[in-house]
Amino acid sequence: MCGIVGYVGDRPCRDLLIAGLEKLEYRGYDSAGVSVISDGEIDSVRAVGNLANLRAALAEHVSGNGGVAVAAPPATIGVAHTRWATHGRVTEENAHPHGDCEDKIHIVLNGIVENHAELRKELQAEGHEFSSETDAEIVSHLIERHYHGDLAEAVRGAFGELRGHYAFVAMHLDHGETLVAARKECPLIVGLGGEENFVASAIPAFLAETRRVLTIENGELVTVTPEGATITDAEGHPVSRQEDEVTWDEDAAEKGGYPTFMKKEIYEQADAVAETITDRLPGLDGVDLSGVALDDEFLRNAERLMIVACGTSYHAGLVGRYAIEQWARVPVGMDIASEYRYREPVSRPNDLVVGITQSGETADTLAAMRLARDGGSKVLAITNIMGSQATRDADAVLFTRAGLEIGVAATKTFVSQVAAMYLLALRIAELRGTLPPERISELIAEIKRLPSKIDETLANVDRRAAAIARSHKDQRFFLYLGRHIGLPICLEGALKLKEISYIPADAYAAGEMKHGPIALLDEDTPVVCVATDSPVLDKVLSNVEEVRARGADVIAVATEGSDRVAEVADQTLFVPRSDWMLQPILAILPLQLLAYYIARENGLNVDQPRNLAKTVTVE
Ligand code: F6R
Repeated sequence: MCGIVGYVGDRPCRDLLIAGLEKLEYRGYDSAGVSVISDGEIDSVRAVGNLANLRAALAEHVSGNGGVAVAAPPATIGVAHTRWATHGRVTEENAHPHGDCEDKIHIVLNGIVENHAELRKELQAEGHEFSSETDAEIVSHLIERHYHGDLAEAVRGAFGELRGHYAFVAMHLDHGETLVAARKECPLIVGLGGEENFVASAIPAFLAETRRVLTIENGELVTVTPEGATITDAEGHPVSRQEDEVTWDEDAAEKGGYPTFMKKEIYEQADAVAETITDRLPGLDGVDLSGVALDDEFLRNAERLMIVACGTSYHAGLVGRYAIEQWARVPVGMDIASEYRYREPVSRPNDLVVGITQSGETADTLAAMRLARDGGSKVLAITNIMGSQATRDADAVLFTRAGLEIGVAATKTFVSQVAAMYLLALRIAELRGTLPPERISELIAEIKRLPSKIDETLANVDRRAAAIARSHKDQRFFLYLGRHIGLPICLEGALKLKEISYIPADAYAAGEMKHGPIALLDEDTPVVCVATDSPVLDKVLSNVEEVRARGADVIAVATEGSDRVAEVADQTLFVPRSDWMLQPILAILPLQLLAYYIARENGLNVDQPRNLAKTVTVE
């Protein structure tokens, strides 16, 4: 989730751009850069690390007399960027802005260009020379290819050739008062000032300067000058747009208008999953994990997978185990990392050990991964954080790319971990030929539909989850019951409730009820049941009947149209139909919201629950 900001107007722009980037820091980044036009040239400075490093690089650039424009106030047009690396390592060369061959066009981009590899080949064949490993640099060269004197037309031409989800801003040395930006899925907002205008990936970037905004919609381009902004569709037809006034304060703006980071992150889950899957599912015929450095031969022949993780990441691993065993027919062992590291696990050279850790810094998971590696196994890290310890300790890394998670309770990182596990499972199935190609295509098509189904689910269940939370906020104990893929979702739902509302909760395999826990039930115990469509639904429904016989109140998560569940449950939260193995990504959403609203009803700070902090836990 990179941050972009552009300015064109009558004020010196360097500090405005850096101030804009500062407001986007919450999105997470590993490098940053800024380019301005001044004195007839484009002056650009980039730095790895945080904005303090960029400021230091700018200062050095000025004192070393390396540049005029970035240092000198006269520059009144520029673009700036915070990069969260996806394609290419964290280096100064890969930081944005990126230029074309003649260094006349500079762009900053947020998102992913899916067809970058083929476009790069084409452009190289035409003689374009690239200076970074990024997908984003393609865009400046494509604009160069289409440029015949009109920047907006060139950007439109380039836009027509790009696939993926992204937003970018371009400027050209010969057009010192024009920025042209384009949006495909990723957000893009224009901030309207007096004799100046901004364009950015999020409102906080310019909120200190103006509250008048134009939202650019998917598939639109915008030309921004000091006088105003002109929006067109992808064919160049003008589009009119009503200007909006932002009423939030700056704190709320950082939260995207949501009351808390946790709520914002719950609502970022469609984007998070889209980032995890998009370029790895280029078509319908297979999974592209070429960026992951896992040898195909090894994946084909690995005798066993072993998943180690903690907390929410462990629950994502549990879902992954069902997918890997069912689709790829490889035995999968699972262990909580803090258990694995203190027993004497048997790790063998033909084992693939998968360490799942969103932070990449959890001590137990790191120790478990090291132990496995010392035992001769290959280690794959599934993590969200570039440059984290897990990325350095593992043989291969699969990044979840969920964006920075600020709320302490893991939400969007969970769904992107589950999505990453689906990719891994399908890739192994593909290599081993354990699923017919039509089934692989069917599953890929369904996985690609998950982001829009996530949005649909949230829109459908939010108010209902809030209402259920209101009626259950004083309850002293919750029991969660599920089977098969429903079980990890129950474990995760119960963890969310405990973590942010401090209400005791337990999660059980529904088939275990009769072995003791049923004694806990009476009319004061709400039972949350994951009862989405699956081959074990009948069994789950029998368990629901058992629970109801003891007077307990049943809150069920069910697949849309599943009237059988609605008939036996007291309250039902429906999620859209999908392949049943993919339901966990949808079924967790109402449970996150339920936990969230119960905590809020009790007046709790869900972003920073007591005794917890989203900090590094390296010993
Ligand atoms: C729960 C939560 C924790 C983490 C766990 C592992 O909401 O955030 O349970 O999942 O501490 O952290 P990572 O994934 O960073 O290793």
